[in-house]
Amino acid sequence: MTRRADIVGWGKYVPSRVLTNADLAQMVDTNDEWITSRTGIKERRIRGEGETTTTMAVAAAREALTVAGMDAAELDLIVVANSSPDYLLPAPANFVQHELGASCPAFTIAAGCSGFVYSLVTAGQFIATGVYRNVLVIGVELISYAIDYTDRGTCILFGDGAAAVVLQPSEDGAGLMAFELGSDGGQAHHLWVPGGGTVNPISQDVVDKREHYIRMNGQEVFKFAVRKLSTCLRNITSQAGVNPADLDLIIPHQANLRIIETAARTLDLPLDKFFVNVHKYGNTSAASIPLALVEAIEEGRLKPGDTTAMIAFGSGLSWAGAVVRMGEAVARATPQEQVALA
Ligand SMILES: CC(C)(COP(=O)(O)OP(=O)(O)OC[C@H]1O[C@@H](n2cnc3c(N)ncnc32)[C@H](O)[C@@H]1OP(=O)(O)O)[C@@H](O)C(=O)NCCC(=O)NCCS
Repeated sequence: MTRRADIVGWGKYVPSRVLTNADLAQMVDTNDEWITSRTGIKERRIRGEGETTTTMAVAAAREALTVAGMDAAELDLIVVANSSPDYLLPAPANFVQHELGASCPAFTIAAGCSGFVYSLVTAGQFIATGVYRNVLVIGVELISYAIDYTDRGTCILFGDGAAAVVLQPSEDGAGLMAFELGSDGGQAHHLWVPGGGTVNPISQDVVDKREHYIRMNGQEVFKFAVRKLSTCLRNITSQAGVNPADLDLIIPHQANLRIIETAARTLDLPLDKFFVNVHKYGNTSAASIPLALVEAIEEGRLKPGDTTAMIAFGSGLSWAGAVVRMGEAVARATPQEQVALA
C-alpha cells in the first residue's frame, strides 16, 4: 500500500486584536450590512505589537507538535505556505525552523491562498516515497501588511493568522488520498501586488501610487473561485473514488460566504456539508484552509475514518484540492487540552 500522509497533530494561532466591520466603517466608506451581505465576514484578526509571520507560525506549530506528542528535534522536514514573509530573504521557513529548535530542512511555498494545499501535497510526496517520516506543514499569513486600508474593495476581506499540521505515514490507509494542483498565470493580474518586485522595484513613486498593496478584480476572482471550487471538487473526489455527497465535510478556502453558497448550489450539495469560519477571520490566505481544518477537528466535525475535501483558490490565479481520510489521531483531545496536559 502507498504510504499516505496522515494528520497526527494540529494547531492554530490568531492574533488577539480584532478588526470588526464597525471598525472598518470608521476607516473607509462601508458598513456592516454591506460587508455581511456581500461576504459573510463580521470580523478579522490583525497582528498586534511584536507579532510577525514567524511568531504566528511558531505558535501554531508548537501546538501541533504538542498534539502529535512530538519534539521539534524529531522533524524531518518543515514546509511553510506563505506569501507575506518577514523579509524578502530568507524565506520564513528558515526562521520558523530555528525558532522551533528543529535541525531539519525547511522551505517556503508561495502560492497565495492555495499555498497550504500545495504544501500539504508536496509534503505528502516525501512521505509517500518514504524519504521523510515526520513533516510539519504550516499555513501562515500576515497579509494585513499588504492591504491598502483606503481601498474598500479589498480591506474588508483579509485578516492575519496561522495554523499547522504534523504529518506521518499512516499504518491503516488514512491520509492524503487524491489531489489536484492548478495554475492559470494568464489571469495573474486579477489578484496581485504590482509594485515592490524586480519589475517595478520599491520607490517613492510605487509608494505614492500605492502599488505595494494588493490589487484585485473582485468580480473576476469571484467567478474563478466558484468555477474552481466546483470543478476541482468533482475531479479530486472522482480520483479518490468518492461520491461528493458521501464526503463527511468539505473545507473550502474561506474567502467569501457567497462563493461557498454559490458553489454548494452548483454542486447540488447542502451548505452544512461545508465548514465555514469566514465570519470570524475573513480571508487569511494560506492560513485559511488549515485554520478551518483545525477548528473542524476541535469542534468534533471530523472523526476517525471520515473523508474530507479541502479546496483552495487564489492569486496566480491558482487552485489546489486534496481529499484526506482522517486517521485515529483526531479522536484525541483538543489542542487546548493537550497543551494543558503537557
Ligand atoms: C470584493 C467583492 C466582495 C465585491 O462584491 P461585488 O458584489 O462583486 O461588488 P462590486 O465590486 O460589483 O461592487 C458593487 C458596488 O459596491 C461598491 N463597494 C465595493 N466595496 C464596498 C464596500 N466595502 N462597502 C460598500 N460598497 C462597496 C462598489 O464600489 C460598487 O459601487 P458602484 O456600483 O457604485 O460602482 C466580491 O467581488 C468578491 O468577494 N470577490 C472575490 C474576492 C476574493 O475572494 N478574493 C480573494 C480570493 S483568494
